[in-house]
Amino acid sequence: MPAKDLAKFQERINQELLHHRVITNNEFTHWFEKGEATPGQVKAFIVQFSVFSNLFLIAQLKKMIHADSLEGMRASKEILANELGVIFNNAKKKAVHVTDKDMEGDPELVSTEGSIEGGVFHFRAAHFEWLLKICDLVGLKFQDVGKRRHGTESTLFFCDELARLYGHEDYKVSTAASYAIENWAARGFWKQLIQGLQAYKKKYCPNLPLAFFTWHDRIEDQHARHTQEELEAYFLKHPDLNQDDFIRYGNEMMEGIWTFWDGLNQTRKAIE
Ligand SMILES: [Fe+2]
Repeated sequence: MPAKDLAKFQERINQELLHHRVITNNEFTHWFEKGEATPGQVKAFIVQFSVFSNLFLIAQLKKMIHADSLEGMRASKEILANELGVIFNNAKKKAVHVTDKDMEGDPELVSTEGSIEGGVFHFRAAHFEWLLKICDLVGLKFQDVGKRRHGTESTLFFCDELARLYGHEDYKVSTAASYAIENWAARGFWKQLIQGLQAYKKKYCPNLPLAFFTWHDRIEDQHARHTQEELEAYFLKHPDLNQDDFIRYGNEMMEGIWTFWDGLNQTRKAIE
């Protein structure tokens, strides 16, 4: 795809995909950021987030299985194995000051850079286990979180759309969904959640560990830098790309994400 066509397509993506309401107008995160959530509201939020976090593994596994190149398969495997507890092996950082003992699963210290190649597995480094530490402090037990039966209809719709689109066997579909996911994730919702949780921590729960959220925020900043390069490389490799399809599948994914946040918003209003 010549450079001027690429610029034109980028303009279309900006107009027709990246202005989705989940990016421009997320009522839940906007409210949450203010730090007015009650313990009941935070609890309900954590339950739905645990369902998303756990079921996301299915979508990520499907994405890995359906990769259209060894490179793509490895990229997906990096994310999957890291989710499960393989710590990124970052030779640079290790040499400085962090010891293995420290790195045993504490997300404050676990690197967001590097590779799972040669990385060490720890049960406690599984992202879901980081979330369980929060659960412990807001009165949620293992039996209360992470399963389909704990998800609202909206949360399950989102998780199923992730598996269907992000994990789609047609790489055209998964690439568009992936682009939508990355762009949503890079627009700062982690920061809004962290801000709200910090206020909650101060008011109700001084020992609340926020590292599950701060770690994801750190890695998202890094992803954002790569997303654009990846898209450009993809266009160059697929000059026959159907632009309408890309926009359509991207928007289907955005709707899935929107449904999740809208569900959270309805739930918190019902608890008010
Ligand atoms: Fe994660």
